[in-house]
Amino acid sequence: MAYNLLKGKKGIIFGALNEMSIAWKVAEKCLEEGAEIVLTNTPLSIRMGGIQEFADKHNIPLIPADATSVEDLTNLMNEAMRHFGGKMDFILHSIGMSLNVRKKRAYDDLDYDFLQKTLDISAISFHKVLQTAKKLDVLNEWGSVVALSYVAAQRTMYEYNDMADAKAMLESIARSFGYIYGREKKIRVNTISQSPTMTTAGSGIKGFDSLVDFADRMSPLGNATADECANYCICLFSDLTRKITMQNLYHDGGFSSMGMSYRAMHQYNKSFENGEKE
Ligand SMILES: NC(=O)c1ccc[n+]([C@@H]2O[C@H](COP(=O)([O-])OP(=O)(O)OC[C@H]3O[C@@H](n4cnc5c(N)ncnc54)[C@H](O)[C@@H]3O)[C@@H](O)[C@H]2O)c1
Repeated sequence: MAYNLLKGKKGIIFGALNEMSIAWKVAEKCLEEGAEIVLTNTPLSIRMGGIQEFADKHNIPLIPADATSVEDLTNLMNEAMRHFGGKMDFILHSIGMSLNVRKKRAYDDLDYDFLQKTLDISAISFHKVLQTAKKLDVLNEWGSVVALSYVAAQRTMYEYNDMADAKAMLESIARSFGYIYGREKKIRVNTISQSPTMTTAGSGIKGFDSLVDFADRMSPLGNATADECANYCICLFSDLTRKITMQNLYHDGGFSSMGMSYRAMHQYNKSFENGEKE
């Protein structure tokens, strides 16, 4: 059901790769809620994914940009301003990638060049987006910037690897930049800490199926889906959340407040019935 929450609002969506992507769902809901959007991704992801078809179908500009390149970001934001005929109201940063995860390098055997790339793509790019947006003054007062995070920023999650460090940095950037952007321009900056979700980035994590199942058993409301995450993003872009800023907002069915649940305990006990000890 649509509520027209974003009627008259304009924004940029980073990170829609295919229809499983959280950003793809956000893009769909932005349109349903009356927003105008510009889509962006890396040239490679545009070639590999289905985003070009999505853009063509809805007649939306798709502007290639590598979010680690300030030059690309400057071009993207100038182009978006030209397209909209003025400033915008929201930005979604839905970007993550770790070569250490991809190449199965363990956390105690990291490749440091890969680590630099993980941090640049998954965290520092958020600073670059914010800094470029502020310097070019692309956001209207009471605009909203949202990035996607994961609870591994606070708690150690097996096999999440150097992405945990990237998420911790991402959330810190939301606070540090949120202070300045709020004080000077009345712009909100928040991160949403989402349940494990079956997407291309998510399924790159070793043992991801088990993680999804465990999180679901632990969460009283069950895992939050990509669709539900998109609803939360829409809320944060809307005028209903004007005084929420510098927050890391859990969207995880209650997982982050749990220690042990009945459903997880039940499953755990089954392993003892089967005679497993380790
Ligand atoms: N899937 C999960 O379990 C989960 C859980 C919590 C948070 N998140 C976060 O949600 C966000 C979106 O991921 P997703 O799960 O939708 O997966 P996804 O693979 O669909 O999206 C990741 C996107 O990052 C883009 N990207 C990678 N490098 C880039 C670069 N240099 N410049 C611009 N874009 C680049 C990719 O092209 C892709 O579109 C990520 O930040 C991810 O860490 C995902």
